[in-house]
Amino acid sequence: MAKVRSNFVCQNCGAISQRWLGKCEACNGWNCIVEEQVGSGIGAQAARGARKGRVFPLEGLTGETKSPPRIVSGMGELDRVTGGGFVPGSVILLGGEPGIGKSTLLIQACAILARKGHRVAYISGEEAVAQVRLRAERLGLADAPVELAAETSVEDIVATLQQGRPPALVIIDSIQTMWTEAVESTPGTVTQVRGAAQALIRYAKTSGAAVILVGHVTKDGQIAGPRVVEHMVDAVVSFEGDGGRHFRILRSVKNRFGATDEIGVFEMTGQGLSEVTNPSALFLSGRDASAPGAAVFAGMEGTRPVLVEVQALVAPTALGTPRRAVVGWDPARLSMVIAVLEAHGGLKLGQHDIYLNVAGGLRVGEPAADLAAAAALVSSLTGAILPADTVYFGEMALSGSVRPVVHAGLRLKEAAKLGFRAAVAPPTQKEGEPQALATQSCGHISALVAEIAAAGAQLRRAAGRGG
Ligand code: TYD
Ligand code: MG
Repeated sequence: MAKVRSNFVCQNCGAISQRWLGKCEACNGWNCIVEEQVGSGIGAQAARGARKGRVFPLEGLTGETKSPPRIVSGMGELDRVTGGGFVPGSVILLGGEPGIGKSTLLIQACAILARKGHRVAYISGEEAVAQVRLRAERLGLADAPVELAAETSVEDIVATLQQGRPPALVIIDSIQTMWTEAVESTPGTVTQVRGAAQALIRYAKTSGAAVILVGHVTKDGQIAGPRVVEHMVDAVVSFEGDGGRHFRILRSVKNRFGATDEIGVFEMTGQGLSEVTNPSALFLSGRDASAPGAAVFAGMEGTRPVLVEVQALVAPTALGTPRRAVVGWDPARLSMVIAVLEAHGGLKLGQHDIYLNVAGGLRVGEPAADLAAAAALVSSLTGAILPADTVYFGEMALSGSVRPVVHAGLRLKEAAKLGFRAAVAPPTQKEGEPQALATQSCGHISALVAEIAAAGAQLRRAAGRGG
């Protein structure tokens, strides 16, 4: 009998090594290498019966094209993230930490589509049918004609779904629990996850069903990560939230049929996830505009403007090395803003602890938040309260000049809609255009610092006279 050889495969990144290692040399992950048999991988059978290739016609870029038809779920926030609905034959990977609400979101979407007359199947590899039913009952969706099953064998699932009319939507919850006979590795390993995903993707392409694969993302990466299938699927959507709060943000990371960086905002309630159609109002709710150190940032998430409060706390340090902590923004970006404020704004922050927080659990990735962060920092340092009806946006250069950012018009419009009256923003190229609200153009950071500091000084003088 032939000797069985084995490879050692990293469960995080899929790198193969010839011996067991404690640390993967490719991704530097610890304890993620698992032994798998050679010849058990994808395509192992095909390789044995090698055949001559078939000749196919090559085509040009021009030709008849149709925009893909869409299955609209009717959940506006979900449709926004998918780019206008599910595309038949496409595969979406929905990632998120356990307990964030992936199953809840999907059963709700399934129920809506099923009620509209689409054939919808929900295959759970994690929960028993009774558990899924119980949740649906709690959500008031028990009457929706969703087809349920608790199965983990990909071959069985595909065979079952091929009976009757093809489904419009198939949910696989989760990809980590699926296994295929084409691969001999243990269920849960990367090779199995990849093999199962490949079989399901093939099913989607041939049947025209939209397939959603749920993938658990764990912080320590112990379970075979769904990352290894990211390149195979048409869209990757992540579901995020922050521990204590009830907001959930659905974020499109990759989308072959729509824009990325699009977000959908939900709130977890007793009746499942409800859509938040006006996230700015949500992120600004409970705002205390009478305290220094808070600036409202007019940001963009994908194609949608979102207003959010940036809070800063600057306090003299009691330690040798001052603390710098930031939540919801890039720490490197904060260091840069601090450096520019010191170099070009004349501020001394070396002996201060600095904390920066983006309220509401939103993660801001835009450099356009520089100006809002700077305003919040200066406000906290000087004690000057920023005007409550003003928004801030603009990117800061290392020279201290403030650079224009994209979609200024959309940002201003959103701010006007929410009752703001003024904006501090970079000078725009298109002077004289009617604007949604009064814009105070700020070309250099020193102007902003001077203005806020003057307001602070006035406040102190007034306090001095009063007391
Ligand atoms: P779930 O969808 O099971 O998460 P995932 O599939 O991502 O692991 O959601 C689980 C959490 O959601 C659970 O902690 C309870 C909460 N939840 C509510 O708050 N309200 C609800 O109506 C439902 C169904 C769940
Ligand atoms: Mg689940």
